[in-house]
Amino acid sequence: MGDNSVFITGAATGIGLGIARKLDQLGWRVFAGVNRTAPTELLHGASDRLTVIRVNIADDEQVKQAAATVRQALGANGLKLLINNAAVSGVAPGPVETVNIADFKAEMDVNFWGPVRVTQAFLPLLRQYGRGARIIMVTSASIYFTIPAGGSYAIEKHALTALTEHLRMEVAPFGIEVTALEPGGVRTPMTGFRPEQETHFWNSIPQPLRQQYQEAFEYPGKGLSEGFEFESIETYADKVYKQIISAKRLRPRYTLGIGVGMLPWMHRVLSKRALERIFRRLLRVKAPA
Ligand SMILES: NC(=O)c1ccc[n+]([C@@H]2O[C@H](COP(=O)([O-])OP(=O)(O)OC[C@H]3O[C@@H](n4cnc5c(N)ncnc54)[C@H](OP(=O)(O)O)[C@@H]3O)[C@@H](O)[C@H]2O)c1
Repeated sequence: MGDNSVFITGAATGIGLGIARKLDQLGWRVFAGVNRTAPTELLHGASDRLTVIRVNIADDEQVKQAAATVRQALGANGLKLLINNAAVSGVAPGPVETVNIADFKAEMDVNFWGPVRVTQAFLPLLRQYGRGARIIMVTSASIYFTIPAGGSYAIEKHALTALTEHLRMEVAPFGIEVTALEPGGVRTPMTGFRPEQETHFWNSIPQPLRQQYQEAFEYPGKGLSEGFEFESIETYADKVYKQIISAKRLRPRYTLGIGVGMLPWMHRVLSKRALERIFRRLLRVKAPA
């Protein structure tokens, strides 16, 4: 069993940045995967243990190369923790009826196939670490509700949730634990309502259908983010460390963030119909005709 080491994707911004910085401060050996954004914030005040690795998780070769770099740095020790954090949103806007399939595939290539690629490439290193090695899949609290006409992201996170469930059983015999982190309400470049998103969203639906959808619901996401509280990446990273990374044993999933903790409970106790009524009201969607 080696030292505390982590490979985390999407570490230049948001939740990934918060966690990478936190673990670096705690003395971990951090391998920080970054894509297009310069890791300026990440490197500011970072220790010399932290290694930045440029990796686009939609690219097979780059992912394999990232794993080779980490393997070479860690030698026989193996990797303790893999955090599949990177994702995109808003690439494939629109209702199922009109969503652009090429855009949907491109988004899925990052949000679902990305973690598949990364997990395949890094599992040998985790197995080398042995008992105590862990994988955290960052999914989303959006798997607990439906955002009509904004489904692609949630659908991809549902797929990632299924992958997490499956993987947990498969790798448990090697002593590797797998969990899903289901965030919500963290202030990052991905969250918050932006007017240009609304325009982009509506423009993705061809006329005359656009008008029909506009009459059926307001912009998906607006109802959720208006007046919604967000927490900082620092506060969030603290919680992730205390509740997940330092836990003796991992729970199968952690729904973590402001206002999202009760979502799994609501799913257990309420009927599908009651849940839909609540979310329809929250998201300002018209009742069924
Ligand atoms: N913030 C929340 O409240 C919230 C809620 C639910 C779920 N999440 C999940 O939390 C995770 C982190 O998101 P965030 O909120 O922290 O947003 P974020 O700051 O936008 O982080 C996403 C990161 O993923 C990277 N990334 C995107 N495409 C990539 C690719 N092809 N290859 C490698 N890296 C790529 C981005 O780098 P570039 O910008 O350089 O491409 C970015 O650093 C995501 O999985 C997200 O779905 C967050």
